[in-house]
Amino acid sequence: MREKILLLEAIHPGAKLALEKDGHEVTLVSHSPEGAELDALLKKATVVGIRSKTKLTAKILEANPHLKLIGCFCIGTDQVDLAAAARLGIPVFNAPYSNTRSVAELVLAEIVALSRQLGDRSMQAHQGVWMKSADGSREVRGKTLGIVGYGHIGSQVSVLAEAFGMRVLFFDVVKKLPLGNSMRVETLHELLEKSDFVSLHVPDTAQTRMMLGAKEFAAMRPGAYVINASRGSVVDIEALVAALKSKHVAGAAIDVFPLEPASNKETFKSPLQGVANVILTPHIGGSTIEAQESIGLEVAASFESFLARGMTTGTVNFPPMDLPRLHPGSVRIANIHRNVPGVLGEINSIISELGGNILAQGLATDREIGYMVADIENASGAELDKQIGELITSIKTHLLA
Ligand code: NAI
Repeated sequence: MREKILLLEAIHPGAKLALEKDGHEVTLVSHSPEGAELDALLKKATVVGIRSKTKLTAKILEANPHLKLIGCFCIGTDQVDLAAAARLGIPVFNAPYSNTRSVAELVLAEIVALSRQLGDRSMQAHQGVWMKSADGSREVRGKTLGIVGYGHIGSQVSVLAEAFGMRVLFFDVVKKLPLGNSMRVETLHELLEKSDFVSLHVPDTAQTRMMLGAKEFAAMRPGAYVINASRGSVVDIEALVAALKSKHVAGAAIDVFPLEPASNKETFKSPLQGVANVILTPHIGGSTIEAQESIGLEVAASFESFLARGMTTGTVNFPPMDLPRLHPGSVRIANIHRNVPGVLGEINSIISELGGNILAQGLATDREIGYMVADIENASGAELDKQIGELITSIKTHLLA
């Protein structure tokens, strides 16, 4: 047994299997424990995996400084006090890209659904209304899709849309390689003027907040459609409702909202409710069984990369480090320390006093902490671990092998 890993909130069992294969002891708990129950479970674990419900506050983390690692088996990390975790030398991983394909597939489905008014036709049929008509229904083949944000999801949407016979334009603030026959445009307005469908795939930043408002809807082609499965802050909902009611925008599929219910027990309210050809979904873009499994495996792989190699690339609260392991037989040590001048010098003096030879070494820092990984030959790992760990600036050390 290497680590005692506690997985809460019914994390996909694939993660347990993968971690057990790596030699860890894994405890699966299906609910989100709180208070004394959570504390008792954390006391017995060295690594914890959570989803979105379990709150790891500064108080809880300070009571459990022995934790080596936290995994958020989801995208968001607001449920963890990231700064407190970093201060205590606990890196936090998440799984930002495991549900990319799921979002892209939903967007493709919505493009066809909007173009054929599927949401409204289905609702009418459920209510006993037989509305057989071709009015306003079109194939998507040959139409132009404008993608705003050509990152992981935007570029997948691009590939799938081309397979459907669509022309793809994209706008991104970073210069991205166009996939397939897609073409980059220089401005958002150029994309809006040329697209039959506009799909948003940007993060929530000061620049993207309300990036589609009245002015942008007016710039779109009459009869174009809007899809937002990115973040609720990106679209001005009132302006969208006005553009839909005036029929300038022919339909919209919205998966994310400025205000979303905190749980399935709360009621959902939006000015978009009842507007024709509007598909509303409860932030399910990334919610598939495949994505859950893939999240489980992605975070389990990050656990192993940190526990075996000290890799912190992909964490959300630690300076990134991925030192290649090129020296078999050497001892690898990782040290997290307060970022003050001279620590590396002190560490290297200890190594040299113990007769160790540094074969590889990396240091990554942010304002608060420094993270050092080194491969050392000719020195006792246990002695290095002890002496480096005793440095006044040390927060935590890990002897990796
Ligand atoms: P990503 O980081 O891979 O891509 C985002 C792209 O947007 C980048 O290429 C970036 O350069 C570009 N960008 C940033 N600011 C921009 C601006 N002002 N104008 C144009 N482009 C800009 O992110 P990913 O994974 O593709 O996710 C995209 C969005 O989808 C995120 O907001 C994410 O939170 C959301 N998402 C929604 C899900 C759902 O369930 N509906 C599930 C997963 C992600």
